[in-house]
Amino acid sequence: MNKKQILLIDDEPQILKTVKRYLEAEDYEILTANNGAQGLDIFLKENPPLVITDIRMPGISGIEVLKEIKGKKESDTEVIVISGHGDMDTSIEALRLEASDFISKPVDMEHLYLAVSRAFDKIRIKSRLREYTKDLQGSVEKKTKEIKEAHAMLLQSEKLASIGQLAAGVAHEINNPAGFVSSNLNTLEGYFHDIVKVMMRYKEIHIAKKEERTSLLEEIKQLEEDLDIEYIMQDIDELIEESKDGVNRIRDIVVNLKDFSRLDHGDKEFFDLNKGIESTLKIIWNELKYKADITKSYGKIPEIEGFPREINQVFMNLLVNAAQAIEKRGRIDITTGLISSDKGQDLVEVRISDTGAGIKKENLGKIFDPFFTTKDVGKGTGLGLNISYKVIEKHHGEISAESEVGKGTTFVVKLPLSLRSCPEIS
Ligand SMILES: Nc1ncnc2c1ncn2[C@@H]1O[C@H](COP(=O)(O)OP(=O)(O)OP(=O)(O)O)[C@@H](O)[C@H]1O
Ligand SMILES: [Mg+2]
Repeated sequence: MNKKQILLIDDEPQILKTVKRYLEAEDYEILTANNGAQGLDIFLKENPPLVITDIRMPGISGIEVLKEIKGKKESDTEVIVISGHGDMDTSIEALRLEASDFISKPVDMEHLYLAVSRAFDKIRIKSRLREYTKDLQGSVEKKTKEIKEAHAMLLQSEKLASIGQLAAGVAHEINNPAGFVSSNLNTLEGYFHDIVKVMMRYKEIHIAKKEERTSLLEEIKQLEEDLDIEYIMQDIDELIEESKDGVNRIRDIVVNLKDFSRLDHGDKEFFDLNKGIESTLKIIWNELKYKADITKSYGKIPEIEGFPREINQVFMNLLVNAAQAIEKRGRIDITTGLISSDKGQDLVEVRISDTGAGIKKENLGKIFDPFFTTKDVGKGTGLGLNISYKVIEKHHGEISAESEVGKGTTFVVKLPLSLRSCPEIS
């Protein structure tokens, strides 16, 4: 094993000699210098773990040597100062400058031995502490990474869950028109049989004898009356119209859903925000219609640049929150329009107001925090607004809320028209 190195600096050759001999006997490797300048030279070359220096020396003093060594950023070197008689103040200053110890002249070897072993203890502990801190940093980094990954996974599963919920809502939306289309088809089937019955009787006319025809026609007329063919003819028209409507509604929902629920972020593009809100409304109509009357006031706004699927997700979160805040029945007002920022930049502003329960003052600052929810377990994850905040931030926009308990809440979203000035969004 390498011997532990100590650099000894003293202008008195006698002291150098005695101390060197003593410490070498204790199995240390001793380097010596007889003035401060030489001492610092050796220190820079050898970087010994411990320096023992006299305080009073001609030229560079021990205090200056100490300052120089402690001033080196990467230096872990400990310094013990040797002070003469009446040097108490300087010794105290040395300690303040982080000398590990001081011993006074005449040097008492036992005292010196203790100071040296204490200094090496300190060096050992410091190096262990450094390793430990490094380990700790490593494991904190690892944990942070794990938490980040878990968070991302949670967001993903939250997304999947909300798509699951969405699918349930959409199934309900589809069920309704599918139900009446199917019932209409049953009715039409019955009508068709009735019409076929009448048609068959008409066919009989062709093969019937001339004298039988009049009575046959009478019978057919009676049958037509019994079956209420006139009503059937009129009803068929309505049933077909209604069924076509139903099928179109189903097609709309499917198209919207396809547009909406793709898990990828889609591409950056210019899109019509008003249309986006409309298609979002169709998707969540089932959640809204029992809760609120919706008023819409779409302003004339140019197409804006961004990720429409993500923006739609924001409006979905805001609208669902609004509906959930309404206990029995209320109103949701949607307004869009063009405004100017303080700096004169054109912005699109969307306001979504509800007449729901409102948000308590003390909660208003927390609603965008991840996992903040006032909803029952299993009902809200508290991520809706957090995700929305991030999406709007990514689009260099702003989202804020005003609310009064018992009256309602308004969310305001402001978005720039173009992301051209935001090169980091690709
Ligand atoms: N329009 C609103 N009216 C009243 N409170 C609201 C409104 N929007 C949000 N909040 C409050 O902010 C909280 C956080 O909303 P956020 O959408 O982030 O989560 P959540 O709706 O609870 O759960 P989810 O993750 O399912 O959206 C809600 O729990 C609710 O207390
Ligand atoms: Mg929500």
